[in-house]
This record gives sequence, C-alpha cells and structure tokens, in this order.
Amino acid sequence: MKVLIADKIDEASVKRLSTAGLDVTVKTGMAPQDLLKEIPVYDAVVVRGATKLTAGAIEAAKKLRLIVRAGVGLDNIDLASAESKGIVVRNVPGATSISVAELTMGLMLALARHIPQADLSMHQGRWEKKSFSGTELSGKTLGLIGLGKIGSQVARRAHAFGMRILTHDPYITAETASAIDVQLTPFDQLLAQSDFISIHVPLTEETRNFVDVNAISKMKPGARLINCSRGGIVDEEAVARALKQGHLAGAAFDVFANEPLGDSPLKDLPNCILIPHLGAQTTEGQGRASREAADIVIEFFSGSKRATRT
Ligand code: 3PG
Repeated sequence: MKVLIADKIDEASVKRLSTAGLDVTVKTGMAPQDLLKEIPVYDAVVVRGATKLTAGAIEAAKKLRLIVRAGVGLDNIDLASAESKGIVVRNVPGATSISVAELTMGLMLALARHIPQADLSMHQGRWEKKSFSGTELSGKTLGLIGLGKIGSQVARRAHAFGMRILTHDPYITAETASAIDVQLTPFDQLLAQSDFISIHVPLTEETRNFVDVNAISKMKPGARLINCSRGGIVDEEAVARALKQGHLAGAAFDVFANEPLGDSPLKDLPNCILIPHLGAQTTEGQGRASREAADIVIEFFSGSKRATRT
C-alpha cells in the first residue's frame, strides 16, 4: 500500500508506517499542480492544513481509499468529492486541544498585559512602563463561541484565572455547560457582556463570517477578541476598523482567511497580535497528532488485509 505524507508529521510516526510494511513517500510543500501529478498512485494520503485536497486533486487520485488529516480542521479537504468516490476521511479531533487551549490563554494574557508590545519596545531600547498598563483576567467575563473539545479546555484554564465564563454553542445543552461551570448564553448577550471573546468552532457554511460587522458592533466597548479557530469565521477588516475606532481594545489572531497572511489592515495596528497559525504547533500536540494519524493508516490497511484474507 502506498502512503503519501503531504505535510510534515513527526519522524517517529513516518518510521512506524514504514515498519508496518507500508510504502511511504514524504513529499511536503508541493504546489497544487505537482500534487495533481503525484497523487494518482497512492492508496492513502496524510495531510495537515497546508495541502489542499480539492475536488481536482481528489479526482486525480485514482487509487485513493483513505485521507487522514493529522489535525482537527477538515476545511482543506473537499469532503463531498471524497464521499462521492467512497474515500474514507479521518481526523484526530482531540490530539491538539490542549496546545490550542494553552495558546488561547497565552494570547488572552498577552492582550491583557500588552506583552508583545512591551517586549518590542524593550528590544527597541525603550523603558515605557506607563504606556503598558494592563488589566487583570480575574473577575472578567470570557465569552466562548463554541464549547467543544478546545473551548472546554479553555474554560477549565480560564476558571483558574477567576473568570466568569459564558458560551454560545447550539450543539450543547445548558446542563453540559453548567457541568463545567459555564453559562449557555444567547449570542447577542455573550457579545454584550464579555470582556474577552474567544472563538472555538470549525469553519463550516454555518460559521463562515459568523463574527461579522454586525456581531462586532454588538461587542462590549473595550472588549478583546481572540481567534485560534479558523480564518473566514471572523471578518478581519471589520475587526481592523473596530480596533482603529477604539470600539475593541485589542485582538489576537492565529488564523486568517488567507494564509500565509498577505496585505492586511491588521498588520498596521499596534493593538492587534498576529501569529502564524501556531495553535497545534507544539512538540506534544504534533507528537500526538502524528501518532494518531499513523495508527489510523495502519489500522485501516491491516483491517483491509484481514478482509482480503477471509
Ligand atoms: C488543526 O486544524 O488541526 C489546526 O488548525 C492545526 O493545523 P496544522 O496541522 O495545519 O498546523
């Protein structure tokens, strides 16, 4: 069975796939036209977020039976095309939740205490104590848009900082939320009451542009917004305007509608923290995601070997 590793996973997991008897090729950073030429011979493909498995790529994949996303988001895979060809698509939904939750807390603290701006100022030779007066998280309200695997890990950590936590999530019950001391709240109330708002939902047709100009206008004046989920959920230009006008006090983005981020009004704003999609980028997170992805591939083909023998 031929397996293509199209985005970087850890070495040990690549080795495990080979040791399991699979014919593994690691080819990362391929341009879309190179992927079209490469993909026809493989039985399985492992990707992270960089490789786009478009309808065209899936059409070109003549032998493909399995796509594994060594991560959470499936928005880089044309699921309808995969389904129409009977290709199994799997992800590793819990592997990187803690990494993303910890990064979210880091960004919340960075926004509250102006850490990146103060660091930059020091590196530029200044000592500007007064301009970096911050705010405590303790006693503040955190609004979580989405209380799934990552949102609930953020809630646990935010409790430790003494925050009150609201959530808007149509897929959970008030009982589930209150079991972790989070209050299920209508969206508009969450926007109006939260000092910090953090987004933890996948990008789907339902969530695309969910935090639009209208939602931003309903946020509490002085609120701070964090997006470690997916680009395309937040209207980045509307956030830039709200930051410029002072309606929002700060924003932090790990993900963007277009990655890598090109021209963007966010780049000119000192009260906006920008990082390059680092949510899952930890040794532990990548170790777990790679191992779980390799397990899925090995299990899938050992299952089909068993099926062939019987
Ligand atoms: C995910 O969906 O798992 C995260 O956004 C990380 O994506 P990456 O594997 O492309 O870094």
